[in-house]
Amino acid sequence: MAPAASPPAGPEQPPRPPPPPRRTRGRPPPLRRSSSASASGPGHRCRPLLLSTPIFYANGPPHLGHLYSALLADALHRQRGLRGAGPGRFSTGTDEHGLKIQQAAAAAGTSPPELCARVSALFRQALTQAAVSFTDFIRTSEPRHQRAVCHFWGALQERGALYKGSYEGWYCTPDECFLPESQLAERTDSQGRTYKVSLETGHEVHWTKEENYMFRLSAFRDPLQKWLRDNPRAVFPDPFYQRVLHWLGDDLPDLSVSRERSRLQWGIPVPGDSTQTIYVWVDALVNYLSVVGYPETHGEWWPAAHHVVGKDILKFHAVYWPALLMAAGLPPPEQILVHSHWTVRGQKMSKSLGNVIDPSACIGQYTVDGFRYFLLRQGVPERDCDYYDEKVVKVLNSELADALGGLLNRSTALSINPSNTYPYFSESCFPKILDYRETKALGRASAEDYEFVVSVASLPLQVASYFEDFQIYKALECIALCVRQTNGFFQRHRPWKLNRNHPAEKLWLDTIIHVTLECLRVFGTLLQPVIPCTADKLLSRLAVEPEERGLSNLTFLPRYNGKPCPFEGRQLGPDTGVLFHRLEKSSQHQIENKRL
Ligand code: MSP
Repeated sequence: MAPAASPPAGPEQPPRPPPPPRRTRGRPPPLRRSSSASASGPGHRCRPLLLSTPIFYANGPPHLGHLYSALLADALHRQRGLRGAGPGRFSTGTDEHGLKIQQAAAAAGTSPPELCARVSALFRQALTQAAVSFTDFIRTSEPRHQRAVCHFWGALQERGALYKGSYEGWYCTPDECFLPESQLAERTDSQGRTYKVSLETGHEVHWTKEENYMFRLSAFRDPLQKWLRDNPRAVFPDPFYQRVLHWLGDDLPDLSVSRERSRLQWGIPVPGDSTQTIYVWVDALVNYLSVVGYPETHGEWWPAAHHVVGKDILKFHAVYWPALLMAAGLPPPEQILVHSHWTVRGQKMSKSLGNVIDPSACIGQYTVDGFRYFLLRQGVPERDCDYYDEKVVKVLNSELADALGGLLNRSTALSINPSNTYPYFSESCFPKILDYRETKALGRASAEDYEFVVSVASLPLQVASYFEDFQIYKALECIALCVRQTNGFFQRHRPWKLNRNHPAEKLWLDTIIHVTLECLRVFGTLLQPVIPCTADKLLSRLAVEPEERGLSNLTFLPRYNGKPCPFEGRQLGPDTGVLFHRLEKSSQHQIENKRL
């Protein structure tokens, strides 16, 4: 027998194809922390973290974009849990104060508290329906949050970070911020009236003059630059990090952090000055501290916090928030994970265009796991992605229904596996060899089989590395590729043609099924953070017990390395039917036509 080496083993022994190339970031490597997965295996450097979504404005129902922010965070949170990181926390909630909400309530003929209660419940329901596994849901109208904000304000004041000044400028209510002339454009309406809008969002601005409390943001330019230089993964992915550095290269004017109470009543009053209301962004950002019990118990978690945010709110999270924290005597969060936006058939999603996608309708149409899979498989954080129904149907049919579901169905069919057990692997059919490219394969396996088994063996590490790099779509792409390869392996050897009554044929037949089920077990385990229900169904069918579903001890094909396989001979779980139903072409357009 050939000497044992180059094993298609579990993640503790990196197999031959090296993990995917790491991104180059245009800065010298020593500055960069390496990802835990590529450093020493998927289970390394795991510790409890606070992961957060942005808190959602309570002025309208949830849409596709909101759900995407939440799903990215959910997949990371679930994946960390499966890596054995301990009981991490995962927060979400609703942002309920400010002019935007005050005006939306007035327009709806209701009061702000009533509107917020209704919309907040819609968000909670939508996230729960999408299996977003949040551990904390915060509403900024809750007393625990108001207490935290007042305390935070006190810390800023005590440390000399606030002063009162007269402020005038162009104010954009929908974006809740003042804008400099350089960020404005002039427009003319149908009556010939000229008005100014924000260049970035297109929202109208109004000249506003008030007495405000100002935050000494300008004093934090150097500390912010140092923080970023020392923590090159603090804002991630890299293009967003570069964007923040670029902003910090410009002037950083002080920030108005309160509004006159006469204009804005729906908000937290400035402690000790009832004529002023705290700026909604200061109020909202502090939610990340309120959920961890600021000002009493936050020390157990802070600054081990990772915020998932959309690119439109990057400046608030990567400039204002770290500066506010430093000013209040707290360290900045560990990481800000940024994603881009979804468009719909190439257009920005907007109420006026009537193309806002309702996540609940999508879930009704494509199932919870189907829709989760689609958004995470097709969403690329670095760039905007386009939504249309045909794409959802195509991706789900080909990857979940046909490739993954078909593979499970074919490899567990009673016609080829009448005992319905996890069959035995035969070392004589699939012997361990030094190098499949140089040695004539022994047994029944071909060079192609060795290559395929090596690529599945490297999958857990690759997937962990992509999760660490906030590239969940790439992790899913790798899994989809391996599923295709496994189908190729199964098809190539036509197990249905082998005669179970012939001893030699039986050994090879069982080995083919064993290898295929091992692949499915790895795919099911790795897919849990993204499609929890489907993965559970798959793993239950393979009789994988809950305590055998972790990522830190995921080994693939241990028998190839001469180690025992706990699954061999085990009775498979009951057949609970099709893993993922094919979607009919007729379901296309249904969602886009059913608008919010
Ligand atoms: N309330 C603020 C966040 C305060 S966090 C301290 C807010 N809320 S929001 O409801 O407008 O947006 C919440 C999230 O949804 C943001 O991350 C935003 O980027 C995301 N999305 C809104 N529209 C989106 C798309 N079209 N596509 C993807 N995500 C988008 O901002």
